Amino acid sequence: MKCRKCGAKAVINMRQHKLALCKEHYLDWILEQTQRFIKKYKMFTPQERILVAVSGGKDSLSLWDILWRLGYQADGLYIGLGIDEGIGYSAESQRLSEQFAAQRGLRLHIVDVDQQYGETIPEMADRTTRGRGKPCAVCGMAKRHIMNRVAREGGYDVLATGHNLDDEAAVLFGNTLNWIPGYLVRQSPVLEANRPGLVRKVKPLCRFYEREMAAYALLRGIEYIYEECPHSVGSKSLYYKEILNRLEEDRPGAKLSFYLRFLQAREEGLFAPQADPQVELLHTCPSCGQPTTAPGECAFCRLVKSAS
Ligand code: AMP
Ligand code: FES
Ligand code: ZN
Ligand code: ZN
Repeated sequence: MKCRKCGAKAVINMRQHKLALCKEHYLDWILEQTQRFIKKYKMFTPQERILVAVSGGKDSLSLWDILWRLGYQADGLYIGLGIDEGIGYSAESQRLSEQFAAQRGLRLHIVDVDQQYGETIPEMADRTTRGRGKPCAVCGMAKRHIMNRVAREGGYDVLATGHNLDDEAAVLFGNTLNWIPGYLVRQSPVLEANRPGLVRKVKPLCRFYEREMAAYALLRGIEYIYEECPHSVGSKSLYYKEILNRLEEDRPGAKLSFYLRFLQAREEGLFAPQADPQVELLHTCPSCGQPTTAPGECAFCRLVKSAS
């Protein structure tokens, strides 16, 4: 297989784009495409300050690397969740995020949930009925809360996460299987800060396949954590990813067109904005200033206070 641009040996073949590229042209292509998506979806401008949420995984570290190479002003945020299972999942992902930032002279904020709130995510989850068994729901809520808080406090214009096409297609698959219009209307490469106390959220990698990000990280020599969160084993989202990969095997491009056609339908108004659960975020939490669905403290502040 030869590079379409220069004829040298290709390092990757992207069947869905009918495009094979050598290392040099692949690394350039990823930069160009990301820049194109940032513009197309009006994610941010070079004047804006970006906070990249990094988990130590290939997607978020690659995203930070790409934004840095494109010349954007992007700082990082790592949230220490206190998940010890596996190889010491949280400690190792923190080490890799710190190493990445140090190698490039970039600024990384670190929030250690245990230090800041007095208990780890698994400990918080153990106290709630919601979290019994798996801490993922509590973890997701805590991450959203902390990301938004640090972005606001640091005066950042936008918060960027490393969600890739496989993540987005799996979420979309779940939301269409269960036909949840409220979630469908909100699934977007950009979530505007349409409530006081919220920061704009963007997903610049949402059109790249997971394998493309793995190839990017490898070719750039980025050291990342290979392990998934130990609690994700057996999750619905991994199951949906497997199903979509099987579909992709037989029909290259199926995942991408599933997602892009959804975005197009959404833009054309297929999902009524009345279904947006954000509309219900009419109240402001008196403790943290973030929007909530009901008067009084938000779910995260209540959870944290219920420990003491
Ligand atoms: P996940 O929910 O684990 O699939 O991660 C989705 C995105 O959330 C990642 O690409 C990161 O941008 C961000 N993220 C996940 N875990 C963390 C963490 N511990 N600290 C900061 N950002 C995170
Ligand atoms: Fe939060 Fe797995 S439970 S990353
Ligand atoms: Zn080439
Ligand atoms: Zn609150």
